[in-house]
This record gives sequence, C-alpha cells and structure tokens, in this order.
Amino acid sequence: MAGHGRLCYGGDWNPEQWPPEVWREDVALMRRAGVNLVTVGVFAWSRLEPAPGRYTLGWLDDVLDLLHAHGIRAALATPTASPPPWFSLAHPDALPVTAEGVRLHHGSRDTYCAAAPAYRAAARRIAGVLADRYAHHPALALWHVHNEYGTTCHCAHAEAAFRRWLADRHGDLDSLNAAWVTSFWSQHYADWAEISTPRATQYLANPGQLLDFRRFWSDTLLAAYAEQRDLLRAANPAVPVTTNHVLGDWVPVDQGRWASEVDLVAIDHYPSAVDGGAEEQTALAADLARGWARHGAHRRGAGDASWLLMESAPHQIHTAGRMHTREPGRMARHSLAHVARGSRGVMFFQWRASLGGAERFHSAVVPHAGPDSRVFREAVRLGEQLGRIGEADAGAVDAAVAIGWDAASGWALGHPGMPSARLDPYAELAAAHRALWRAGIACDVVLPGDPLDVHRLLVLPALYLASDATAAWVRAHVRAGGHLLVTWLTGVADEHARIRPGGYPGALRDLLGVRVTEFHPLAGDDRVPLTGGGTGRLWAETVQLTGAEPVAAYLGGVLDGSPAVTRHRVGAATTWYVSTRPDEDTYRRLLTEAARLAGVGPVCPGAPPGVEAVRRRAGDRSWLFLLNHTGRPQRVAAAGTDLLTGAPVDDAVTIPAGGVAVLRERSP
Ligand code: GAL
Repeated sequence: MAGHGRLCYGGDWNPEQWPPEVWREDVALMRRAGVNLVTVGVFAWSRLEPAPGRYTLGWLDDVLDLLHAHGIRAALATPTASPPPWFSLAHPDALPVTAEGVRLHHGSRDTYCAAAPAYRAAARRIAGVLADRYAHHPALALWHVHNEYGTTCHCAHAEAAFRRWLADRHGDLDSLNAAWVTSFWSQHYADWAEISTPRATQYLANPGQLLDFRRFWSDTLLAAYAEQRDLLRAANPAVPVTTNHVLGDWVPVDQGRWASEVDLVAIDHYPSAVDGGAEEQTALAADLARGWARHGAHRRGAGDASWLLMESAPHQIHTAGRMHTREPGRMARHSLAHVARGSRGVMFFQWRASLGGAERFHSAVVPHAGPDSRVFREAVRLGEQLGRIGEADAGAVDAAVAIGWDAASGWALGHPGMPSARLDPYAELAAAHRALWRAGIACDVVLPGDPLDVHRLLVLPALYLASDATAAWVRAHVRAGGHLLVTWLTGVADEHARIRPGGYPGALRDLLGVRVTEFHPLAGDDRVPLTGGGTGRLWAETVQLTGAEPVAAYLGGVLDGSPAVTRHRVGAATTWYVSTRPDEDTYRRLLTEAARLAGVGPVCPGAPPGVEAVRRRAGDRSWLFLLNHTGRPQRVAAAGTDLLTGAPVDDAVTIPAGGVAVLRERSP
C-alpha cells in the first residue's frame, strides 16, 4: 500500500476478461504509467468458482505472480458483489425482493439478499478460499471486500432479521411503539410478528419504521462485511482490509459508523456535474471520506485516519444520460484534488476498457483505442506527478471549521411527509460545503460526538435529528468557546425522528437564542428577499428572538421585517441561526463572517477566484496544493518549492490554466 512517501496509483484491473497476452501488455503499460496498485477479482466469482465448490484459481495465481514480478501490488477483492448464476438457481430464497414484493433475477450484478443465510455462507466460503490461498502472497497489499455494499431486500430472511434487530434496539414492544409513535394511524404492534420491513403500502409509511430499516440494513451489510474481514484478518493480520463505498442518498450504508470497522476508508467518486460543480463535488467527497476516516480512528482510539480514492472515472464524467469528456488536464486536477484532501493515492475504474458487458463504454485508462491515446498519455503524466509529491502524504489536512453531518439524519430528512417535498439533505450539506469552498476556507466533515479540539466554528446544515447526546456535544463545543452556525430544520427531531416540542429547533433553542414557531416552505423557484441584498429559497420561518439579535430580516410577504438570520453571544462564542437557504453569495459571505469572528480565514488569502488551496501539515513542515480550475494561468503568493516542476518559488507561483502546483512550503 501507500507509505514511505509513495502514493498508490492504479485501478480496477479485470484480467478475467482478457487472454494472458493482454495481461502481459497490461503490466508493461502499468509500469509505463507508474502504476503500483491494482484491484483484482472484484467481479470474478464465476471464474473463480464456476460450479458450487469447484475452484479454478490457476489464472489468479498467474495474475498475482505476474504483478509481483513487475513490482505491482494487488488490492485483492472478494467477488461477493456478484454471485454466479448457479448460486441464484440453487438458492432462489437468496434472491432479493423489492419493496413491492417482486423477486429479482440474476442477469446484472448485486442480485442477492445480504440477510439470506445461503448467500452469507457462500460469501464466507469463497472469501475463505481466497484467504487460504493468497493471504501470504507477496503481491497482496490490501483486501478489498465486496464492492459498494448498497442493495436492500424485503424477503422473509430480511424481515426476520429486522424483527431481531428491532428487539435488540428497543428491548420491548412498548418502547418500539413509543419510538415509532404507532398511536398515529392505528399502527400499534402487539406482537413482533406483526412488524414487516417497510414494504410498499397504501400511503405514507411510518417515519420511525423507515429510519430503523435504514439503520438495520446498514448494520446487516456491515455484519456481512465484518465476517469476511475477520476471516481474511485471521489468515494474515498484517494485511489491511477495506471495502469501497459508493456515495449517494440512496446508499443504505452509514459510512461514518462503518469507518471503525475498516483499516482504511475507501470511496469511489464519480462527480455528476460537468461544469464547476464537479470540482465542488470532488472536494466534498474527499472531505466526507476524510471525516469518516477521522471518525473511525477516533472510535478505535487509534490515530490512523487513512482514506483512499478507490475508484474514479479516467476521462469522462458519467452524468445521467450522457458521458461528458473531461477536458485535457482535468482528470489529473480532480485526482490531485483528492490527494490534496488526504487520499493516499488515486485509483481508477477501470484499467482497460471492456469489449462487452454492461459497462463496455465506461471510460478507462487504456481505452478501446489502446495506449496511443490522450487518456493514456495523461495517465502516464499523472503517474509521474504522483511520484513527485509522495512526501506530502505525511501531512494532515489543516482545517479549523467543521461541518457536522450524520447519515441517519439525512435519511430521516429525506422521508415523505415533510413540509416540503423539495428537501434534500445532501443538497444542504453540499450548499454549506460549497459556500466554504468558494470562500477558500478549509473544513472537515465531522460526525456528532467527534472531537472538535481544532475546530473554531461548527456548522450544522439541516442536521434534522439530534439525540440528547448530539445536543450535549454541540453545547460542550459552545461552552468551550467554539462558534456555531446552525441552519433551518436542525435539531428538530430526536434520534427516533420524533419532533421535539416547544418550538424549533428543539434541541438547540437556548444556544441560539431563538424560537421558531412556524415553517413557510417556498414554492418552485420562489425567492424571498432579505435585508442586506441577499435572497432565501426553499424555506422560511417565523423566528422569535429569545436573546439573539437579528442580522438579516425577510422583506415582503407574511414574514416582512421578521428575522431571517440571527446572531447570539454565549460566553466567548457567537452562535448563528439561518432560517432559510441563502443564495450562494449570501451564504459565502455569512460563513466568511462567521469564520472571521471565530478567527478563521481562507487557506490562501490572496488566491484568485477559481484557485482552490489546501494545506497539509506535519509538525513544522507543510505542503500547499493549489488547483487552478480556471482557463487562464493564475498567480498566487506563496514560497517554497513546487514539487511538480522542481522550481523554487520565492514569493509567487504561476499555475498554468487548468493546472496544479504542489508546494513544499518554506518552514517559518
Ligand atoms: C462503481 C462500481 C464499478 C463500476 C463503476 C462505473 O460504482 O464500483 O464496478 O460500475 O461504478 O462508474
């Protein structure tokens, strides 16, 4: 793996799709590109076990030996994300059932129920076979369990497991009925057997049931991961184990809570925006991954908060409905943006473009045209660049602002039956992050309960669920002098998604010096003007001041003159409440001001707009990543040595259009 000043570089390699001559060409090309780590075997179950209990591993022996002979290491995958057809035929009860009761059939991938005993047993068996054979192979750097855990199921196995999980969580039916408020709509449960997974039903489902199902399913997938991990670890404790997370609101995995169960957090990141939004999405994905890794390290009580970009698309942005060509240099810039924010390297999906199969037109490092292509040449250049900046891997990302985020809160906020159907918790997270990103202010993403010792400002964007413990965590931060900025719909509900009475935001009213008595969700593209020149969208509230002072007020309509943004002094801290979604400029200005009062400024105060700056530090050494997302060369005041060019930088560096500079800064 990474370490010793060397970043990982490579991607998913699928030799099972190719004859051995192509393998040999591939490893020669990998050497040319500076590749040092490849993921193998992710979807190779039917090649490894073509019939139940019959294993054909010779080809994988050859592949691993070939990699080793060329100095390339393997992230060896367990192939359990795609059971072979024989498995589905032998175990139809292990095929997944949708919420509508439709049982799916094999023919794609990920078609199994993670709660089905037959699936779990088969997964353990194939993982065990790989562990026995390869745990001490010299090419093995990392175990890559499964691929992107994320499918759900409503079959009888899932239902029985859900009931067991609920009994464990709630203890007795009275507690469950209270947590889910089943007195509403005559849903009282008198027997565990009456409870099902949240299947398709007549009208809105119970929010408590929906939330618990998400939590249960995340735990179920985690148990499936953990049993593979344990047997891989037992075979050789020296080899780290991970699984790669896909990001998205549909993913039923609480990645933060999984983080203490992996040796390295791994994410796959495919931005969906083609314009500047791709850069913002990249920064957010990386900050989330680093936040999960930090949370995991904290929970484990161990310091290693590593994360790795396990997959990304080489030369295209794969948006829904269309592939967008990444302009020359953009692939490297996106990749280095991940490294800037702490990734231990850069990995792609996939190495060589497949000739058939569902993803035959997915971008690849070696495209259908072959290595005589722009994408391969850019990959070679990126390999050289990664080779030059390895020392920065020692530095931790420097950030004094934290955004608090919690998957369960996002799940609950996304439920039907909210006051507006346009609420998107991930968009709220992204909006807060984007405002800081545009202000040039570095931030960490933290989970409730995480240490905030280096963070002078905590931002909670629509953190809808707040348990008493979460509220106490926020309170302790403010009591210690930490500043706070909270947006609408934060702290409204408890951990069971039950509303906290007495006025919103129930859990945090006293800290903010406000009491919200009414919501006014906005329609369509409606904007509500604010004093000071900005606008709000999506949402507005009737905010009563109970100690806070107004910073901006609503203009016009029923809320004319009433506070929209407020500020409150609590000891040494300032707490802010933002009752609408400010437009981008207003949000950026607000967060800049909140950060300034907390004593936090931009990473690189003089950086021109469109230049992203991230600093990594280790003791008195530091590295400054400067990413020029504009189409013109940009000059930034800085001093040190540009590791990419080797040139000394005395007082300013000029970054080419769309290019990157990585400075080893001069020690003070
Ligand atoms: C990932 C997945 C890969 C491949 C890729 C395409 O989410 O892990 O197997 O499907 O997407 O973008």
